[in-house]
Amino acid sequence: MVTQQAKRLAVLTSGGDAPGMNAAIRAVVRSAIPRGYDVLGFRHGFTGLIDGDCFRLDARSVGGIIDRGGTILGTSRCERLKTPSGQRAASQQIRAHVLDALVVIGGNGSHAGAYKLSQHGVPVIGLASTIDNDLPGCETTIGATTALDTAIQAIDRLRVTAAAHGRVFLVEVMGRDSGHLALAAGIAGGAESIVVPEIDVDAETVAAQILSAYQRGKSHAIVVVAEGARYNADSLANHFHAHRDRLGFELRVTKLGHIQRGGAPGVYDRLIASQLGAAAVDHLAAGESGLSLGILNGKVTATLLSDLLQANKKPLNAELINLAQILAK
Ligand code: F6P
Repeated sequence: MVTQQAKRLAVLTSGGDAPGMNAAIRAVVRSAIPRGYDVLGFRHGFTGLIDGDCFRLDARSVGGIIDRGGTILGTSRCERLKTPSGQRAASQQIRAHVLDALVVIGGNGSHAGAYKLSQHGVPVIGLASTIDNDLPGCETTIGATTALDTAIQAIDRLRVTAAAHGRVFLVEVMGRDSGHLALAAGIAGGAESIVVPEIDVDAETVAAQILSAYQRGKSHAIVVVAEGARYNADSLANHFHAHRDRLGFELRVTKLGHIQRGGAPGVYDRLIASQLGAAAVDHLAAGESGLSLGILNGKVTATLLSDLLQANKKPLNAELINLAQILAK
């Protein structure tokens, strides 16, 4: 039974699921209970919050989930929370459930929602979790490393068949607005060309990179393309197909799609999710909220939600861009 004095917090996962979200939920719950909190979990992100769809989480209910991808709470992209009436309904549920705080695990859209709730007076902490790794203020988000491992396994396999046939493979990775995943996957997968939304290249520039690779004696090539690039895998493939006689290379396209979001979280994602979940409770217990927690220089770092929302898009690492060009030789 909840006493008048009991502190209560709730946790939800929002936006695209990312491997390690479960480890973060587990860490929030198991760090909060010894500090005297009751913990609720809202189902399906902000949708469940608005609808008051929640259940109590205890130490046992988060057992056996650290190694599971997805999220035991379910998730959603909640359009209603973008409206003032949705925000009011969500903050009413916070009051109705006598919650002292809310932990939101998700990416940029989820942090925008968390910020809106904080403007309605809800003490909220966001945990940076997206395979896109594009939250400003931090270096690594929960899920990005596992997604990269998945992409690399696929690229390694594609390189085998690309080499056997002397073909070019266009591999599309996720990243609607950003190329962090593509850049890292391209370097780690040994790509000859990497196409990202942040650097606008046209199809002929990519073709020139491939032809130059062949001229340097390569027998095949891998192009890693972020889905959000102006020339995505389909439009590059269409262009190369239309000019196939002139360009002279044979091409195949593989879209990794949602495969990158599934699978068991790797060690690093389990570790940082555990650190971030515990740190969220530390901050809330110290009376601090309105923050986003992520990993920077190997440590938990806190960014004000207001700063995060006003920040420019997280820039690609210039050293990695340079490195990709050098190593593609
Ligand atoms: O969560 C981010 C992301 O993985 C993007 O890279 C991708 O464009 C998007 O989610 C896909 O979202 P959905 O699963 O809602 O189609």
